[in-house]
Amino acid sequence: MGFYYSQFFVQPAYPTQSFAGQTVIVTGANVGLGLEASRHLVRLQAEKVILAVRNVAAGEEAKRDVELSTGRIGVCEVWELDLASYASVQAFAYKATQLPRLDVVIANAAIATATFSIAEGHERTITVNVISTILLTLLLLPKLRETAEKHPQANRPRISVVVSETHAWTPFPEYKAENIFEKLDDPTAADMTDRYASSKLMDILILREMVHRASGAWPEVVNMVNPGLCHSRLARELGWGFWLFKQVVARSTEVGSRTLVLGAAAGPESHGKYMVNGKVDDSALSGFVRSPEGRNAQQKLWEELVPILEGIKPGIMQNL
Ligand SMILES: NC(=O)c1ccc[n+]([C@@H]2O[C@H](COP(=O)([O-])OP(=O)(O)OC[C@H]3O[C@@H](n4cnc5c(N)ncnc54)[C@H](OP(=O)(O)O)[C@@H]3O)[C@@H](O)[C@H]2O)c1
Repeated sequence: MGFYYSQFFVQPAYPTQSFAGQTVIVTGANVGLGLEASRHLVRLQAEKVILAVRNVAAGEEAKRDVELSTGRIGVCEVWELDLASYASVQAFAYKATQLPRLDVVIANAAIATATFSIAEGHERTITVNVISTILLTLLLLPKLRETAEKHPQANRPRISVVVSETHAWTPFPEYKAENIFEKLDDPTAADMTDRYASSKLMDILILREMVHRASGAWPEVVNMVNPGLCHSRLARELGWGFWLFKQVVARSTEVGSRTLVLGAAAGPESHGKYMVNGKVDDSALSGFVRSPEGRNAQQKLWEELVPILEGIKPGIMQNL
């Protein structure tokens, strides 16, 4: 299905599956797709929805907004999480280990910036969208697994990582470099117009490799959600040309957020898969991702990422 056809003629279904009794983390929940997904989750009777935000005041405002619109008070909690700081990611994950249960993680937070800057020794987009997103996912896996063991009757715990159609719009030349992350961190070589798309492609490649490597019987489901082009604050830095394009083509934030909730409700059939309009559809992945070259790229990326993650949290790979 083409991008324009999907944008203009397909609407993801309005989510109806109950999240009763479940605890859900939504990263980047103060605005955009994360906020609207959180609103759906509260409406769908989730027991606890953790709004993981880098700006706690904005998170409290989002919580009030959700409470007002759903009439359910005390369901949302605001927790601080800054994906540009590994210490913050680890502190957040540690706090999550204290929860009585954790059923779903929607890894939604991301940035799209044309400005090169460094966070934690890597270009910021790569740190936030890729390294910290995967770090958080791995740190939360044991808690999800513990929940599955304690509540065998419940749905399998899920991790939905929000990716993007744009993964197919980058040639990702950096993957041919001797070291991909080093190349991406080089300010003299950086093509920031491509960076967001490359980060989303990297997420897809890394998650596919992660699922492949841990191919045993995982008690949890990891899927990748493409929400389509939606109104949000994401492209705030990308100029008036893109803004105009969005006015014509983008979905409402609420419609886009349905895909996150449908991903979070999806079952084992979505494990390791790409979801478009709330449905599993690996055929919508780019030709590159599905090619032998893409397979090489995903292995290479994984081999480079493991020492980075082990450097942040020694032993983390045992969580797989
Ligand atoms: N909108 C689209 O058309 C579209 C299309 C495809 C995929 N997506 C994906 O959908 C997801 C949500 O994007 P959106 O469109 O809703 O964008 P958005 O309105 O800009 O929301 C992004 C969220 O991520 C948070 N965030 C940014 N940097 C962070 C950090 N260092 N630590 C923690 N949180 C951070 C933001 O917090 P602040 O408010 O503090 O900045 C915000 O809550 C992203 O993964 C994006 O790539 C969006």
